[in-house]
Amino acid sequence: MKDQINRLLEDINSFNADTLDKVEAFRINYLGSKGVLKQLFAEFKNVEASQKKEIGQALNNLRNTATEKVNTIKSALEGSKKEAKVYGDLTRPAESIELGSRHPISIVKNQIIDVFSRIGFTVSEGPEIEDDWHNFTALNLPEYHPARDMQDTFFIEKDPDILLRTHTSSVQVRYMEKNDPPIRTISPGRVFRNEDISARAHCIFHQVEGLYIDTNVSFADLKQTLLYFTKEMFGKSKIRLRPSYFPFTEPSAEVDIYWGLETEIDYKITKGTGWLEIMGCGMVDPNVLKNVNIDPEKYSGYAFGMGIERIAMLLYQIPDIRMFYENDVRFLEQFKSVI
Ligand code: PHE
Repeated sequence: MKDQINRLLEDINSFNADTLDKVEAFRINYLGSKGVLKQLFAEFKNVEASQKKEIGQALNNLRNTATEKVNTIKSALEGSKKEAKVYGDLTRPAESIELGSRHPISIVKNQIIDVFSRIGFTVSEGPEIEDDWHNFTALNLPEYHPARDMQDTFFIEKDPDILLRTHTSSVQVRYMEKNDPPIRTISPGRVFRNEDISARAHCIFHQVEGLYIDTNVSFADLKQTLLYFTKEMFGKSKIRLRPSYFPFTEPSAEVDIYWGLETEIDYKITKGTGWLEIMGCGMVDPNVLKNVNIDPEKYSGYAFGMGIERIAMLLYQIPDIRMFYENDVRFLEQFKSVI
């Protein structure tokens, strides 16, 4: 009997199965009610008294080994079966689909593009790394012009100057060089200025600049377009233009919208005046047109430029510009938009 038990033990130890059916057959054969072990235990009563202890232990060991074998193979097979199944447990609650959200800068940029595209403006883009001509000289800002100081520039190379564009007016220069009037385009993009970072200013921000060139374009056209924009964008219908200076426009103006003084926040953001500055604008200086080979005797145009962050801060009442760049999901997931 001892030999028989040892042989069976070897068989059990070397057993393996690749299906649950095979494991079950093995279980019935060894551990079932008419199985091998059952028979051996039945014969146990015939074992001589002197051998009972040894044989008894061997039998128990055999049964435990068989049981363990069945359990290990079974759980291994069941584990891999779950993975292989396409649908898994159909009663399990569905996993929620996390919807991403667009960055507020993108939302506001797309809104601005949408408003202007409805009145015929196309979108133009250009490089962030610019040469002196497109960022300054062509825009009536020759070398040593004091107004260059208005835009603290990050230079990459000197002589000839290569720099990070300080405004997307550079894109407008490129556009005018390649296209004949009538021109109606807006240029959204990232711009760079060597400024101290604070709650209101950042060294990297975004702009949308607009340009319209045709015959007989007047300041009244500019004003009407800006009024249309502020109505669509903010739902506000009162604007004012304050005289200002930009080298590339003449005359130039700052655009203020009447925000109102209804809430405490209105008082705070308008410093008690009700008015908010939102962009710069003006009639394209004839020198700029000459620089890009457009005849200023025949054509005139207007241009305007605004910071997207500033508009977004007003629309969403965001108190600190730095929040746009920190990528804190608690901030970002508050902005859901289809645009
Ligand atoms: N380029 C100007 C700036 O970045 C904005 C502007 C554009 C002003 C067009 C007037 C006309 O400050």
